[in-house]
Amino acid sequence: MTAVGIDAMEIWTGKLKLDLAETFAAEKGEDPEKYTKGLGLFASSFPDAHEDIVTMGANAAHRLMERKGLTPADIGRIDVATESAFDNSKPVSTYIAGCLEQVYEEDFHHANKGERKFACIAGTQSLDDAYNWIRAGRNRGRSALVVATDTALYARGDPGEATQGAGAVAMLVTEDPDLVELSTEQGYGSADETDFLKPNQQFPSVDGKRSMQVYLARMREALEDFESVAGDTHPDDFAFIPYHTPFPGMVRKAGLLGYRHMIRGTEVEDELADEIGRQPREEEFDDRESYEEAIRGYMDDLKSTDQYREWYAEVVEPTLSISREVGNWYTGSVHIARAAALQYAAEEDRDVTGDRLLVGSYGSGAQAEIHAETIQEGWREEVDALNVDEQIRNRYDISFEEYEQVHDRHNHDKSVELAAFTEPDGEFVFAGRGAMDERTYDYVE
Ligand code: CAA
Repeated sequence: MTAVGIDAMEIWTGKLKLDLAETFAAEKGEDPEKYTKGLGLFASSFPDAHEDIVTMGANAAHRLMERKGLTPADIGRIDVATESAFDNSKPVSTYIAGCLEQVYEEDFHHANKGERKFACIAGTQSLDDAYNWIRAGRNRGRSALVVATDTALYARGDPGEATQGAGAVAMLVTEDPDLVELSTEQGYGSADETDFLKPNQQFPSVDGKRSMQVYLARMREALEDFESVAGDTHPDDFAFIPYHTPFPGMVRKAGLLGYRHMIRGTEVEDELADEIGRQPREEEFDDRESYEEAIRGYMDDLKSTDQYREWYAEVVEPTLSISREVGNWYTGSVHIARAAALQYAAEEDRDVTGDRLLVGSYGSGAQAEIHAETIQEGWREEVDALNVDEQIRNRYDISFEEYEQVHDRHNHDKSVELAAFTEPDGEFVFAGRGAMDERTYDYVE
């Protein structure tokens, strides 16, 4: 069977940076380590005054098309995943196509365009749609452009405020991909939950602590479902495990849960038995409560073992390096985790061709999806072409007062004029609103 997967990706970060320790914590009178150690975040990215989900998505897609030498005729569908859309009818993909048509002679009139919504998991669902479209033989030799773009803002003063972020990831899905092949096997954990939602409002209503429990419960269900089709997983099976990363501290919890699940009944559990005992089995307990308490005790002990710490440092920690600097990108979040892991492999000069990733996506509301990916021969060239580190370094560092203005500027209920902090250079910018209140965009050379 011909491989189908991600051929290339490009990342576009919002051009402003809010330093969480120096600026945010200082203003709130909080210990900076709550952010840097507890949540595991150093900074958030924000869109400049001339940026939004369309410009970030279009700029990422433009870079991708230029680098891969593509024209609109090569693209058969454009799927945008976002939970920050500003229109209940016209999809963001039409705006992004409109931007791109400003810089290409051809148009996208024969490309199928859509918008996917299921909180942060929609980016992965769009990859699935593209994969299925190609597998079904409906693509006429063309590729799919998947864009995950979000401005993850919380209401001022919400505990989620520290986890904000903004950016876009554009991915090209093709046959014989250069970056990763997607597995046919998938596992789902899905349930009707009210952990995080935006009922016709821009900023989320969040039950923060519960959202973390729901994330872990759905992720665990998805892993079990994945194993039911792909066979048992083992910690040594995967070079990296990129998870949806609302903040790195969440992934710390998911990594531990995943490791415990994967070592159950294996030689790793046996090896650790002298040091921390064997994993509690539910049938050994009279009630669920005492079983859960025993599991929590085992997890606390497992967390401190050398085996776990070494595995986490090698397989999960490298996925977090971009996220730490940019915050939560919702639909793009798991995709920057993949990019960070592959960048790390390149920095370490590791040859990971043929190695596998286990990718854990999550969207509140709630659904987790687990699939595997196989790293392809062209990965190194693709990863070397990314300039995300440079973009992160070049962001304009905003003061707290500037942050307040930027938050207001992107608040849909306010119309605040704000001069841009950065100079657009070869990029799409928000230009204003048209006669029907539609957003308009220009390309600035
Ligand atoms: N030094 C070191 N660590 C510290 C510290 C200090 N001075 N102060 C606090 N910490 C630690 C805490 O112990 C805690 O770590 P543990 O969970 O490991 O115990 C961590 O820092 C965070 O501290 P709090 O729990 O006190 O933080 P909080 O209550 O203010 O907010 C939050 C945390 C609830 C996650 C909040 O950021 C939030 O609501 N975020 C939005 C929702 C979210 O991201 N949920 C994640 C799952 S849902 C999802 O993934 C979808 C999505 O993208 C939104």
